[in-house]
Parts: sequence; structure tokens; C-alpha cells
Amino acid sequence: MNEKRQATPAGLRRWQSLDDARFALELDGGVAELSTAADGSLRLRAEAGEVLDPDPAPGIGREPWMPGAVSADETRDGGLRLVHQGPGFATLEVATKPFSLRVLDRQGGCSAELCDLELRDDGSTHISVCAAPDEHFFGFGEKYGGLDKRGERLRMRNRDAGMSHRDPLYLSVPFFLGLSRTSGASRARGVLLDAFGPCDFDVAAERGDRVRMSTESGGVDVTIFPGPRPADVLRRLSARVGRCPLPPLWSLGHHQSRWSYASEAEVRALAAEIRRRGIPTDAIHLDIDYMDGYRVFTWSPRRFPDPKAMHSALAARGLRTVAIVDPGIKVDPEYPVYREGLDRDFFCRRRDGEVQTLHVWPGRSALPDFDRPQVREWWGEQHRALLDAGVSGIWNDMNEPSGWGPDLPLGRFRLPLGRADLSGMLQSDPSDPKRVRAHEEVRNVYALQECRATREGIERARPRQRPFVLSRSGHAGIQRYAAVWTGDNRSRWADLRESIPMLLNLSLSGVAFCGADIGGFFGSCTPELYARWIQLGSLYPFARTHSKVFTRRQEPWRFGRRVEAIAREALRLRMRLLPYLYGVFRESEHCGAPVWRPLLYEFPDDPDAVRVEDQILLGRSLMVAPVVERGAREREVYLPEGVWFSWHDDARYVGPRRLRVSAPLEHLPLFARGGSILPTQSPIEYVGQAPAEPCVLEVFPGGEGSGELVEDDGETTEYRRGEVARTGLRLWERRGGRMRVEVGPREGSYEIPERILRARVRACPPPQLVSLDGQRLEQGDAVPGYRAADGRVLVQVPDRGEGAAIELEPGP
Ligand code: GLC
Repeated sequence: MNEKRQATPAGLRRWQSLDDARFALELDGGVAELSTAADGSLRLRAEAGEVLDPDPAPGIGREPWMPGAVSADETRDGGLRLVHQGPGFATLEVATKPFSLRVLDRQGGCSAELCDLELRDDGSTHISVCAAPDEHFFGFGEKYGGLDKRGERLRMRNRDAGMSHRDPLYLSVPFFLGLSRTSGASRARGVLLDAFGPCDFDVAAERGDRVRMSTESGGVDVTIFPGPRPADVLRRLSARVGRCPLPPLWSLGHHQSRWSYASEAEVRALAAEIRRRGIPTDAIHLDIDYMDGYRVFTWSPRRFPDPKAMHSALAARGLRTVAIVDPGIKVDPEYPVYREGLDRDFFCRRRDGEVQTLHVWPGRSALPDFDRPQVREWWGEQHRALLDAGVSGIWNDMNEPSGWGPDLPLGRFRLPLGRADLSGMLQSDPSDPKRVRAHEEVRNVYALQECRATREGIERARPRQRPFVLSRSGHAGIQRYAAVWTGDNRSRWADLRESIPMLLNLSLSGVAFCGADIGGFFGSCTPELYARWIQLGSLYPFARTHSKVFTRRQEPWRFGRRVEAIAREALRLRMRLLPYLYGVFRESEHCGAPVWRPLLYEFPDDPDAVRVEDQILLGRSLMVAPVVERGAREREVYLPEGVWFSWHDDARYVGPRRLRVSAPLEHLPLFARGGSILPTQSPIEYVGQAPAEPCVLEVFPGGEGSGELVEDDGETTEYRRGEVARTGLRLWERRGGRMRVEVGPREGSYEIPERILRARVRACPPPQLVSLDGQRLEQGDAVPGYRAADGRVLVQVPDRGEGAAIELEPGP
């Protein structure tokens, strides 16, 4: 389509500084603006023509750009040289012909180079990032395949891929993290191509030394996030596109879903069964059948006659619901949401002025134009109908947006005729709602804007509560508004395996709260596959079992007693780790660190760690090595540098090394990093149930380490105003094997009643002496006191938040 258009390889003609952090560039055939941020990130926007469009970023809620002053000099050939004193980059050189941008660090090393800019009159553009010969490429949002995307061509166009299992998928994050080595040390950098419409990445496929990025409209908007470590890149990326706000604690529990639990009676029976069998679960999902004829924000009067009563009954069992909401509004003059949307002209129209329709579950439906603030506000308000009935979370599906062409009636059934054609649809321009854009130009932010509307609506309706929104589609920054699941996968081993690199790359793209449907959506799961999937899935950041109508049911007890016990244990482990997991989410809110991390995130200098794609670091201190092969009862594990302990039996290993571990069906290989303290609790069946042992510190010797225990009410936003209890944790190891565990004192105003604090020191022979704040402790069950058994030492001390120092002297 673009071939006929004139391409202009841009050269820099002149430049002008707009202020000390913004520069206007005049190019051959186009214009550009260069901005520098205080954290050392850099942004280049370029477009064909003579004026640059207004900055589109505020229109989709990007975090404000924090300018960082630079000094500017003209180079001999009329180029530009910027010098930055702050973090990130030291110098930026803008060359004239050909136009290029070189980012240099303090050592004079090149940390990024943008080149080959081509601007076309129709708004399409190409720009390349130079690739180092040994560079690996991660991120790119939601993609199938391996972790490292070098050599691939990736398309970003949000799409309901159905069963095709092909790129592109539901959600696009046009961002990558490049990791290469220079003189032994690794260097990471991130690049975001903030296009709202479809775009393409040629990841060093055509030319090994280029990542070529192409947009179809709107010019280019590229931001470079310097490293040098992956964590630095993620911190900078997330400062720009937004971080995942601390989720309500219940949403970190297990979610049980199916298309559909289709009546109140079925939901109540499910809740009873979950509790009768002691399967830790916090939420039940209500798929489309709760609605009245699939009209969003309604309840089927026949199947759900009294949602309030149902929700009270669920609440009594410690269970909540998450209700699905699709953007397609049934075209039905009797339906108030449709009528109001139409009267207020809130739906997307076609070029010919008609309201655009497509066929979704309720039949012919209209799509709200979420790029307008009033439409978002109106949409947000609709959620009161669900919240007032007792719903706790909202599940945004079909929001690519997805739907079909008109149906062909076939007796009792209707045969949908292909995907909906939205090519004639218009939407508002996010940066200026008075202007319109072709749908395709803003397609990739449709779901982002919908989730924004949803989240903000819930925040208005329940100002103190932390919302829970789940989305299928999205764009860079979706984590600000919603958790993400990876759509319709299949009950196959390949899909279980693929969920690992897919979720790791999503995580490296800023989407911290993500998961895949446990057990698979399409097709029927086998007992062994379910067992392995729930073991891994119970450690996904977002843990939900979901399956499609007409497939084998996937409640944890549907696969026989043995698998039920495995599922129960897996979910009990999640609940045990909840305090630790919560802390990792807290870290993510604070600095954009992913919850699920590939090994390269923590060990970028270790080339063997960089290659591992089937192991996961959950936060800094836990490593999961799941079994994802049918029939496998052992697997190989790579342990990077440092001391590692097997979680289950405390076996101690020193990395770097490979080992084979045995993994009977009951067993998920899990390792803890030596020199860490993990806050845990005894398992509970749901958040809100008091654990018998609320504070158990699992201590893994092998180095010095620190951690934090963060506690709050788990559901309101009061923690932002200091209603939080934070306890610093420190582990010291002295010569001769003496060990010191320092706890607290607690900070913040969230009150915790007096309790017993337990520190369980792993792989620790009976000590000669155990003391608390210098006072010798006795062996036994008294508090304070300690017990040494099975190679572990359990110290129990009273916890009033004043802090404690526990010391252990090794035995002779
Ligand atoms: C879509 C969703 C799936 C849901 C179904 C019915 O396929 O991806 O999760 O169950 O629609 O709402």
C-alpha cells in the first residue's frame, strides 16, 4: 500500500532549541522534535510535512514527561550535540546526512543509535535501531515463540486470534529490551515505538545489524530508555507508560472461571464445593451468561434473579466475583445503555455517518468511542450497576475490539460470517477529541482507553477501594489500568510451555500482573496436564483457571483425587507465599520491576542465564523450574551464580551449575536464593481468613540479604497515605557461621495486633546458642524459644512491632 508513496530518507536541515530539554528539527520532507527527560530517557517524534501533530501522549494517559535539561552545541556540519549531566546518557549526537541519533554513555560507549529514518506523506514511517552483533531482544508484549526474538518479524495489531495461534495477538506493546555485552559487562537498553495503530518490527531478520520499525500512520514516536541493567530500563519505561498499582490482595488469590457458571444456583454450588474440598480460591468469574441477553451491565432475571443475595452468600464463604464486560452494546432501542449511548452520540460512526455495528454475543452491537473523555466517564458510571449488586472485579473481553460480520441464520443456530469489517470506522483523536481518526490509526489503544474508563469509573464509585480489572487486549501501559490474561489458549502441552516465554516477555514489557488460562481454554485438559499447569499457574502473577463451554470441566476436582490433592497443594503454596508475592507487587508499583522475571533480569552478565527460557524468578528470591513435558518426572535446571536451596527439602547447591532434579507428579521444582528472607504465612483458603501463623520468615542462609514485609488492609488505597506497616528484614552472616536475623522495627501507621513471629532457618544443624536481643533462648515450644529438628531451626518470638535481633551460633 505504501509502495507508491514517495519515501523521504530524512536529512537534518536545521535545528532550534525550544527550551533546554526540547529541540525542534527541520528534516528533508518532515519535522521532528527531540526531548530529553530528567531520568535520562530520550524521545524523538518525527512526521512528514511541515508541522508536527500535537503530542498524542496525554490523550492516552501517559505519565507526564519530566524534562531534563541539556546543553546544546552545533557540530561542524550543522548537526547537534547535547550534553547531559544527569543519569541515563552523557551525550547525544544528531548527525545531518544521513540523519541519525547516537546516544553515548559516560564511558563513551554507544548505548543506542537510531538511523534510516524514512518519512512518507501518508504518515507511514520507517526507522531503525542499530543492533549489536550479540544483542538479544526481549519484550514485544504478547507474542508466541521463544524468549529472544532476534531474527523474527513481529506485527503489532490487536487482534482476536481465535484458534489460529498466529501473530499478531490480542495485545501489543511496541517495546523491546535489547541486551548485549561490551567488554564483558552486559548493557541493556529499551526502545518504545509509541504507535497507536498497527506497526511492525523486523528484529534483525533482514539485516542482522538493524531492528527496523515501521508504522502505518502518525509518523514515529520513539523513546529510548537507557540501562545499563534491565531493571534500569524497566524503571524508566514504567515511569513513562505507568506502573501496576498495588492490586487488592484478594485478586492475588486463585480465580476459578468457566464459560460459564451460568446461574446463581450453579455459582452457589461451586462456592460450596470449593470450600468443602478446601481448594484455596478467592474469586469466581461470571462469563457472558450472567447477563440478560448478553446486554452488558444487566443480569439475567431468570438465571440470576437476586445477585445481591448471591453475593452475600459468596461473601460469607470468602468468595468474590469478577464479571465479564464486553464493549459491544446490543443494538436494541429498549435497552437503556444503548439508547443513552445513541442519544448522546457516544458510539463510533462510519465514514458515511452511520453508527458502526458488528456482531458480538448479543447480536448486532455498537462500540463506544473511548477516546473521548465524556464517553469514558459515561462508561465508567455504568459499572455501578454491577458493583452495587456485589461484583468485585471487572473482566474486559473482546476489546481489540473483536466481533463478526452479520450472521447467517441456520435453523436454530446462526453462523457468523467472518470477522467484522471495521475499515470504515472512525474514532475520536485521543489528543483532540474534536478531530476524527480512522479506526485503524488508533486501534491498538482501544482497549487501553476502555480499561482506563473502567478503572476510573470504579474508582469514582468506590473511592477508597483498589479496583480489579482484567483485560484481554491492551497497549503499552495497560498495567496502569488492568491485569492481563493471554486470551484463548489450548489445553495442550505446547501452550503450557509457551506460557512461560510469553508471560516473561509481557512482564519485560511492563505488564506485571499477567497470567494464562490455567488448564487451557480450547479443548479438554488431561489430568497430568492439569496437574502440571496448576503447579506452574499457581505461581503466575495472575492465577486463573478458565475453560470453554462444551469442553471438559476444569475445576480442580474434575481430574481425580490425586490431581485434586496436587491442585490443593499448589494453591496452598501460593497462599503461603502471599506475603512475599505482595511485596513483589509492591516493588513493581514502586519501580516497575516485573513480578515474573527471566533469569537475565537478575543475571544479565551470565550468558547461560540469558538463554534460559523455561525457568522463572518470582521476585528476586524464588526460582521456579516447572515441568512442562508430558510424562516427565525429572528435568534439568540451571542455577546461576550464588547459593540456592531446594524449597521442599533444603538441598543446597552452589551455582553456576546445571543439575537434574527429580520431579514426580506431586512435585514442582522450586528454589530459593541463598541469603534471602521470605515473608510467608501458613496457608489460608481465601484472603481475609486469618492464618494460624501470620508471620513466618523463611530464612535461607548463604549470604547477606535484605527484604521487606509490607502489610496493610489489602483493599483500600490508605496505604498511600501511610496506613501501612513495613518491616525491614536483614540477614547477616558472620565468620564461623554465626547468623543474625534482624526484624524491624515496624514503620507506618497500620496497626497489627501482637502476634508470634516465626523465623525458620533452613539447612541449619542444631545450633549451640540461639538468642533474642542478646538473651539466650531455650529449646522448646515456649515463646520466646526455639526448636531444632530435621535440619531446620524454628525460632518463635513475640512480635509487637518493636523489632527483634535473632542470633544463631553454629554447633561445634
Ligand atoms: C472469549 C474470551 C473467553 C471467554 C469467551 C466468552 O473467547 O477470550 O475467555 O470465555 O469469550 O465470553
